[in-house]
Amino acid sequence: MTSTASSPSSPSSEGTSVTIDLAALPHDFLWGTATAAYQIEGAVAEDGRAPSIWDTFSHTPGKVANDDNGDVACDHYHRWREDIALMRQLGADAYRLSIAWPRIVPGGDGPANAKGLAFYDQVIDGLLEAGITPSVTLYHWDLPQVLQDRGGWPERATAEHFAAYASVVAERLGDRVTHWATLNEPLCSAWIGHLEGTMAPGLKDLTAAVRASYHLLLGHGLATQAIRAAAPGARVGIVNNLSTIHPATDRPEDVSAARRMDGHTNRWWLDPVHGRGFPADMREEYGVELPEQQGDLTTIAAPLDWLGLNYYFPQTVADDPTGPAPRVRTVRRSGVPRTGMDWEVDASGIEDLLLRLTDEYGARKLYVTENGSAFPDVVRPDGTVDDPERQDYLVKHLAACASAARKGAPLAGYFAWSLLDNFEWAYGYDKRFGLVHVDYRTQTRTIKGTGHRYADIIRAHRERGRKAA
Ligand code: FCB
Repeated sequence: MTSTASSPSSPSSEGTSVTIDLAALPHDFLWGTATAAYQIEGAVAEDGRAPSIWDTFSHTPGKVANDDNGDVACDHYHRWREDIALMRQLGADAYRLSIAWPRIVPGGDGPANAKGLAFYDQVIDGLLEAGITPSVTLYHWDLPQVLQDRGGWPERATAEHFAAYASVVAERLGDRVTHWATLNEPLCSAWIGHLEGTMAPGLKDLTAAVRASYHLLLGHGLATQAIRAAAPGARVGIVNNLSTIHPATDRPEDVSAARRMDGHTNRWWLDPVHGRGFPADMREEYGVELPEQQGDLTTIAAPLDWLGLNYYFPQTVADDPTGPAPRVRTVRRSGVPRTGMDWEVDASGIEDLLLRLTDEYGARKLYVTENGSAFPDVVRPDGTVDDPERQDYLVKHLAACASAARKGAPLAGYFAWSLLDNFEWAYGYDKRFGLVHVDYRTQTRTIKGTGHRYADIIRAHRERGRKAA
């Protein structure tokens, strides 16, 4: 069937007659939405939550567009019931949320905060009552500031504290939660947070960045053990944002640059968790000694139950011989469609990456844990939000996912980024990724055209399953 046929009520747009091969997706495919704690919760000083590095960063003038911050965000901390009701309206059967470490262990290490645990406890119960499977991510970038003050991810102790926190959460929620992710996009924490400096903690220091990358992956391995010890039925994975990388020309220098960028973006994060160690070419490129201790690589390579792929855009790079590691410069291709983030739209990238994870890394279970697009939406006088470009993006990417599944990728679910418009990190509130529009003045939620389209697709897939049964 074509998604167009499945969604007579949603506005059509150029290109949305793309066919989604729904038959290629398993009957128990999880259709989900995703969010992250700091981006939606608000209530930053409530019930014992301590500041995280994102509170510090966003309150530092000039770091975030419009000097926006997450103090209130979508006020999800108080409106989570309404937000679960929205998920039900979409017909989603899963929800990827993250837990705020500074709510659970405000001191970074040491005692757990009962009120923080109680908050997530009720959200999980609310999801289960609504028939929605929770998928819990333990770290979506909100390191307790107190741990940053002690050195943050460049320090080994942070990885150990992360595992202790993971254990507290898994002990409390593990009787009801089976889907667990340790880290969200460690690339962003390490490279954007410590090398490029445009995300918290805002450093530009290669040594700190490489050490952070190492301890993030070590933390992932230690947390995987901790979750499994505390919640024996747990299915643990890691969420990486990967990109397809293309050389700007076929000059050997650009081809090598693309190989380095692939190392920096993809292999550095995938190889160690697959027991291949840190890629030798990139170790040489960075020239930073890894803070390795005996047994670490085995810990990092703990076998996983699933891999999460966050996919947004491909990258085209050229050699930049005098630039900082990895000595590449991103080339802006002209004449290609782009989202409101100025990110290139190329759905073939998600298919290529799903197949690469399958063929090159032997993945046994994959989830698209994030995928979506930002556009400057407006609520029309009739109260609707028409977002044909986002619909087009969604349908094309789902079609590419189904195509990957048809070719053998063990894809078990898709989580649209995002349930709600939210605090888009350094871009603030201007960039809207939601299936649901949020009016930040009144906190009114409005399901966008894409939300309706997603609901139609979910329904059509379910209908197929019912007929086949
Ligand atoms: C990803 C993040 C997510 C959101 C999307 C647009 O890198 O994981 O929180 O910001 O990008």
